Amino acid sequence: MLISETTQALQEWAERPVAQRFPYAPTLNALRRRGKHFMAAELLAALAQARRQWLASHEASPELFLGKFLDVVLDKYDGRYDYLSYTALPLLEHGRTQAGDEADPALILQVHDSALCSLIGDAIRFELRRLHGDTGYLREMPPDRELLERRIGFALRSLEPALRRLGYPGEREPEALPLTAARVVRFCANLPLAHSPFVLDVSMQPVYVAHDEHLFLRILQALDSSFISVCELLTQALRLFDGAPQRSVPFIRAAETLLDEGLRHFHTLSTMQRESFRCFREFTSGASAIQSLNYKRMESLCSRPADERLDSPAYDAVPLLQQALRQGGASLDDKLAALRRQPGAHAAAIPVVEEAMQRLGVTLTRWRHSHYGIAKKYLGDSTGTGYTEGTPYLKKVKDLQVFRSLRADAGAVGE
Ligand code: HEM
Repeated sequence: MLISETTQALQEWAERPVAQRFPYAPTLNALRRRGKHFMAAELLAALAQARRQWLASHEASPELFLGKFLDVVLDKYDGRYDYLSYTALPLLEHGRTQAGDEADPALILQVHDSALCSLIGDAIRFELRRLHGDTGYLREMPPDRELLERRIGFALRSLEPALRRLGYPGEREPEALPLTAARVVRFCANLPLAHSPFVLDVSMQPVYVAHDEHLFLRILQALDSSFISVCELLTQALRLFDGAPQRSVPFIRAAETLLDEGLRHFHTLSTMQRESFRCFREFTSGASAIQSLNYKRMESLCSRPADERLDSPAYDAVPLLQQALRQGGASLDDKLAALRRQPGAHAAAIPVVEEAMQRLGVTLTRWRHSHYGIAKKYLGDSTGTGYTEGTPYLKKVKDLQVFRSLRADAGAVGE
């Protein structure tokens, strides 16, 4: 479909704006033909007009899926482009299954694993298509066959723990990588709690047309989705801590497991071609994971940030959370310190809780070191897209203590 046809489809829709009839597919095709950064002015104007007409209609609200979709598509046009809109996280989170207040760790893991498998499963599907010669969209700088196979291999490995927990039967006999990959992709797409093909489709809005941006986006989304699950686990741990501190331990351990498994995505990401990254990141300026609310929530559920950190660019980038934390907020660190002061009947729980927290601290520090490593590889001396000085910022924050009430977390970590 030509841009003018898409524009016309949008104009016709705007005359009777019913959400279910919105022309999603032509809009996405038009966006992906050049990348979000280069969308044609006439298309943007038609989208903005369609949004106005829809918001003026009686059924509309920015909170509905279509409102979120249009805000994500029009982020650059609106001057609101940031990490959330770049990664389309509001679209992925829209239908995310809530584990509920009384959830056990296994249920939170199941929700996490399903989301992870659908995101990384989709990344594998995209790479497999290229391996089979289908150029699809994002045609520039395709990886060669050897790199594609290495990437798919790493991605499959990153899914192993989640697939095991979800009951993936595995392969009976050794087989060629593309066959295994295709089998895993099918399994992931059919999980009951997986993101729908529609949500996967609308959540892929690259800024440019380089092949590797697909991988970059899916990995950002997968890791951020893991942060959400870690936050759910830590919130449950905090809820249980007061009455029975030992009951929080399985939640803290599960949080550590997810962070540890998430390290595998950095291997997959390290197959991204440097020149490709350099090319599309020119158009991602203003979007940085320093704006990841889920990461900062995770960090602050571990311990309330010290004033110096709370007043730094790290939390300036998440102003609502920064404001809330200035008023206070519960953290595992504070809970442990309070328990030590007044152990009462729970003295025996202290070493068990400490051990689980210690492990979580070490793993989060390993995560930060791996992230620093990949940033060094891809950025060198360049500044960050979140307006920090780049890797010098990450060098400083990688050894922040996760739990101030424990001995340093970084002890077991190399670089
Ligand atoms: C090539 C890959 C990557 C590079 C070059 C990179 C670079 C950077 C840089 C320079 C910063 C500092 C803020 C800024 O100025 O932008 C940052 C922050 C951050 N990045 Fe990445 N990053 C990469 C991949 C990722 C991935 C896959 C994630 C996973 C979600 C991630 C999560 C974060 C987080 C959470 C922060 C905030 C850290 C803090 O404020 O303490 N990054 N990154």
